[in-house]
Amino acid sequence: MNKHDAEKRITILRQEIDTYRYQYHVLDQLTLDEVLLDSLKHELYQLEQQFPDLITLDSPTQRVAGKPLDKFSKVPHSKPMLSLQDVFSPEELADWDNRNRKLLPDNTYTYFSEIKVDGLAVTLIYENGIFVKGATRGDGKTGEDITENLKTIESIPLRLKGNSIPPRVEVRGEVYMPTQSFEQLNNDREKEGQPLFANPRNAAAGSVRQLDSSIAASRNLSCFIYTIVEGAEQAQRHSDLHEQARAWGFRVNTLEKKCASLEEIAVFWQTINEKRSSLPYWIDGIVVSIDELDMEETLGVIGKAPRWSVAFKFSPEKATALVEDIKVQVGRTGVLTPVAHLSPTIVAGSTVQRATLHNMDEINRKDVRIGDTVVVQKAGDIIPEVVEVLTNFRDGDEKTFTMPERCPVCETPIVKEDGEIAYRCPNRDCPAQQRELFLHFVGRGALNIEGVGPAIIDQLLEQGLVKNQADLYKLTVENFKQLDSFAEKKADNTYNSIQSRKTLPMANFLFALGIIGIGRETAILLAPLVVEHIPKEQHPLETVTPLQFFHSCLTLTGEELTTLHGIGEKVTATFIEYFQRPATRVLFEQFQHIGIHLIPPAQTPPTQQSPIADKTFVLTGTLEHLTREEAQTLIRQHGGKISSSVSKKTDYVLAGNEAGSKLEKARELGVEVIGEEEFSKLTLQ
Ligand code: IVH
Repeated sequence: MNKHDAEKRITILRQEIDTYRYQYHVLDQLTLDEVLLDSLKHELYQLEQQFPDLITLDSPTQRVAGKPLDKFSKVPHSKPMLSLQDVFSPEELADWDNRNRKLLPDNTYTYFSEIKVDGLAVTLIYENGIFVKGATRGDGKTGEDITENLKTIESIPLRLKGNSIPPRVEVRGEVYMPTQSFEQLNNDREKEGQPLFANPRNAAAGSVRQLDSSIAASRNLSCFIYTIVEGAEQAQRHSDLHEQARAWGFRVNTLEKKCASLEEIAVFWQTINEKRSSLPYWIDGIVVSIDELDMEETLGVIGKAPRWSVAFKFSPEKATALVEDIKVQVGRTGVLTPVAHLSPTIVAGSTVQRATLHNMDEINRKDVRIGDTVVVQKAGDIIPEVVEVLTNFRDGDEKTFTMPERCPVCETPIVKEDGEIAYRCPNRDCPAQQRELFLHFVGRGALNIEGVGPAIIDQLLEQGLVKNQADLYKLTVENFKQLDSFAEKKADNTYNSIQSRKTLPMANFLFALGIIGIGRETAILLAPLVVEHIPKEQHPLETVTPLQFFHSCLTLTGEELTTLHGIGEKVTATFIEYFQRPATRVLFEQFQHIGIHLIPPAQTPPTQQSPIADKTFVLTGTLEHLTREEAQTLIRQHGGKISSSVSKKTDYVLAGNEAGSKLEKARELGVEVIGEEEFSKLTLQ
C-alpha cells in the first residue's frame, strides 16, 4: 500500500475503531464482535508501523478511548494503566522480539508467559496492608472508583498477609466472571426478559460498574492478580512479582511458565490453547513478558503499550480484511468462482489472502465491492469465505464487480444458463479446467496421491509432460527429477505413489474422472451398478479393466441412472455425454494399455436388520480409528444414509475430534450425538 492509500485507510480505521470502542468501553454496548475490533486495531497498528510518521497522538493505538463514567468518582492512576499490543502468530511474536533485541543489543534475557484472562483490568491499592481503593482502567490515566464493588469479591484480600508489608502497595489484575456463572446469569436474565450479556467480560464489567454493590456481590466475580506496580521494588523479575503477590495472599493464576526461547513460548501458547475450552473462565491468549524487570526502562512504552510485554492471542476464526480486488477462478467444471483478494489477515491460525465469494448471487446479496472492508471467516479446514461487509468503512470509491464476458484464462465467451446461478466457461479444453481436473484426479477421495499439488501439476502441464490423466502414469523418475525443487528421493516417492495407484477402488476411479455432478457419494452408489452391467460371462470379477468399465458405463441408460439417489436428469445427461465423447474412449484405451485395474465394491447387501438401516447420519470432526470414507462405507453397507448438514431429520451425528458447528447444531436440535465407540457397536450388530 502506498503512503497516500495508507493515510486514507488509517483515517477510516481510526474513526471506526474509536466509535466501536466508545460504544463498548464507555456505553458497555457491543456493536462489533470483539475479535473483529482486534483485527481492525491490528491492521491500524501494522500500517502505523509501516508509516511511523502517520502516527498521531489521538490514534487508538496511542490512547484508550474509554472515558470514566460520571457516576463514579475518579481515581487518578499513580502509574498509567497500559494495555498490550497483540500478536497472533509465532512469526509476529518473533517480530516483537526482534524489535526488542535491537533496543537491547548487549543483553540476554528470558521470558515469562502467563494466561490472559478475559475480564476487566483493575488496580488495587493497599495502605498499611489494608485494601483502601480499587479502580477500573478508565482512559488509562484516570479510572472509576469501584472500591465497594471490589470488596464483594472474595478472592481480593481486604488485608494483606505477612509481616513487614510496605506502607503502600498497588497491584493490578483482572476481574472476571467464571463461565458457569455467566451462563447462569444469562439464563436468569432471559427468564426475566432482561437483555443478555454478550460475553463474560461484559457481564463482569457490567457488574462492577454498578452503584449498588449488592449487585456485584450476587454475581460470583473473581480476580487474578498479574503484577505489582508499587511495594515490590526489590523484585528482579516479573516472576518474582507473581511470587510476592501470592505471598501477600492474592490469587495469582498458576498457568504460567518461565521460557528461555520463543519456541518454548509457542509450545506454552499451544498447550494453553488446547486447554482453553476446559478452563472455567474465558481466556483470549497468553501474555508474554521479558522476565528481567531492569529491561523495562530501556524498552519503554510506545503509545499506550509497553514494549516489554505483548499479548500473544489465539487466532480467532474470523477477522477483518480489505478487499483489494475480486478475480474469478475457473474451476474443474468451468464454473467461475469470484474470489476476493485480501490484505493479509490471520484467521484460524494461518494468514489468509484469498476468500471465496461463492457466486454472483452471493456477491449481490452481501453487496461486496472492491475496496470494501469485510469479515472473513474460516472454520476448521474449510476455505475462507467473506461473510459480511462493514459498510461504515465505505468512502464512495468502492467498485462493484461484474462477471467477465470472456473466460480470463482461455477467452471463450462465458455462458449462463437460465435458472442457473453459475457462470461457466464452456471450453472443456480450457487450461484452467484441465489443471483443476488433474488436481482433482490426484486429490482426496480420488487417487489420494500425497505431495502432488498445484506446483507440480503446473510444471507438468507447462512442460507438456501430461495432456490427459493417463499420462500421469507414464511419467518416469527422470521426468520428476527435472522439476523444480525435486530431489532424487522425492522423485522416487512421487513416481512410486502414482504407480501404486494402478490398482484402485472403482469408486475412487469413477470419482477421479471428474465428471460434473459425480461426487464421491454418487460414485460409491454408482460403482455397483457399473459392475452389474458387465456381461455375466465375464464374471466373477476380481478386478475390472478400464475397457470393461467403459463399455459398462456406455450401456447404462438414463432410466437406470436416475433410479439412484442423488442423480438427477442433468447429471445423467452429463454422464452419458461424457462416455460418448471420442476423447473419453481414447483416455480409457490408454488406461487399459497402462494396466489400470479397478477393484469392484464389496458385495455386501444392506442388512435390513441393522439398527442403523434407513437412519440418516451426519459426520463431523476427525475420527481416530476410521477415515471418514470408511465410516461412510460402513453406514451405507448397513443401509444407512449420509447427509452433509444437520437437521431435525438427522438420526445420528457421528462426532470425532475437533467437531465444529455441526456438533453445536446437533445439540441445539437435540439430535443424538455418538462417538466412534458407540458407532462401532451399532455397526457390529
Ligand atoms: S499484563 C500493560 N497480564 O489484558 C498492561 N494483562 O491489554 C498490563 N490481562 O485489560 C497487562 N490477563 O487487564 C497482563 N496476565 C495478564 C493479563 C492481562 C489479562 C488484561 C489486562 C488488560 C489487557 C491487556
